Amino acid sequence: MNTLLLNPGEAEKAASILRSGGLVALPTETVYGLGASALKEDAVKRIFEVKGRPQDNPLIIHVAGPEALGEWCEEVPERAYTLADRFWPGPLTLVLRCRKTGEPHIPDRVTAGLDTVAVRCPDHPATLEVIRLAGVPVAAPSANLSGKPSTTTAIHCLHDLQGKVEAVLDGGPCRVGLESTILDLTVSPPRILRPGGVTLEQLRECLGEVELDRGLVQPGETPKAPGMKYRHYAPSAELTLVRCGDAETFRRFAESVPDEGTAVLCWLGEERDYPGKRVLAYGRGDEPETLAAHVFAALRELDTPDIRRILVRCPGEDGVGLAVVNRLKKAAGGKILCL
Ligand code: TXA
Ligand code: MG
Repeated sequence: MNTLLLNPGEAEKAASILRSGGLVALPTETVYGLGASALKEDAVKRIFEVKGRPQDNPLIIHVAGPEALGEWCEEVPERAYTLADRFWPGPLTLVLRCRKTGEPHIPDRVTAGLDTVAVRCPDHPATLEVIRLAGVPVAAPSANLSGKPSTTTAIHCLHDLQGKVEAVLDGGPCRVGLESTILDLTVSPPRILRPGGVTLEQLRECLGEVELDRGLVQPGETPKAPGMKYRHYAPSAELTLVRCGDAETFRRFAESVPDEGTAVLCWLGEERDYPGKRVLAYGRGDEPETLAAHVFAALRELDTPDIRRILVRCPGEDGVGLAVVNRLKKAAGGKILCL
């Protein structure tokens, strides 16, 4: 299959591919998504095949605005609209009860048979236009092969998906750089199932009490979002996540590791010369948004056969730092080295 590279002016082309059951990688403010009409079961099935995604891992549906909540969900609480008002379009996914009756409704293939559905309204003009023109909710997981770092540019999408999907819509690099926050509104208090671009602090300010899913904080607890239980975001190299107070401690540790096959992923302003090692800065330690924006691109850049181990300087968990650490921990297979 020849994969078309579309520009943002070609939203109608992308929409018509979706309407006719094809797959299009779409830009969002978080990461690129691999979109299909959520109402076409065969197209949704193909998403799972193309990504190599386990069938028990449900997809997020992407909608053009809060009015869609009443269409695809039921028992929608008032606070869903409060949140949509404040954070949509933007990096917040709401888990709500899924409407299972009436035609059309979201098929079980999208929700993996759960009685809930995850809904979000992405903040990217081209993709919002595609959703409106297609006239259907767009089911889209991140546009990477399962297990690999998410894609934040059209080139990264092509790297994973060329020849396997009808089109990639190039909307430029993603602003946030990691996936949306998933908030479960079917429980009280609301619970974050995956930290992301909208922070715990922002949600507490808006709603009052908000909890973190136990699977995020307690090793051994099964996360409620099915996708959070898999190893993820991982380059082929072994990743060591290093938590330490200062640049000097990190440098001494990095120097103690053999040079050959080692890459060092540090913070801007703290680059040192490590002769024989590959060095890359992924953002500023005191600005977690910059780390979020570049972490996946950095992991992809270091995913080369000559690199066997990656040492990463771990940020703090304030603000969007919580999401950055969550993704790095997953990439590291759960381990953090505290120095
Ligand atoms: O920013 C994002 O959310 C991106 C862009 C493309 O929108 N999408 C994304 O999709 O990250 P994906 O499929 O890579 O991750 C979706 C996560 C998975 O962990 C999945 O298990 C969880 O959302 N999820 C989906 N539906 C759910 C539901 N009803 N209840 C709990 N978790 C759900
Ligand atoms: Mg993903």
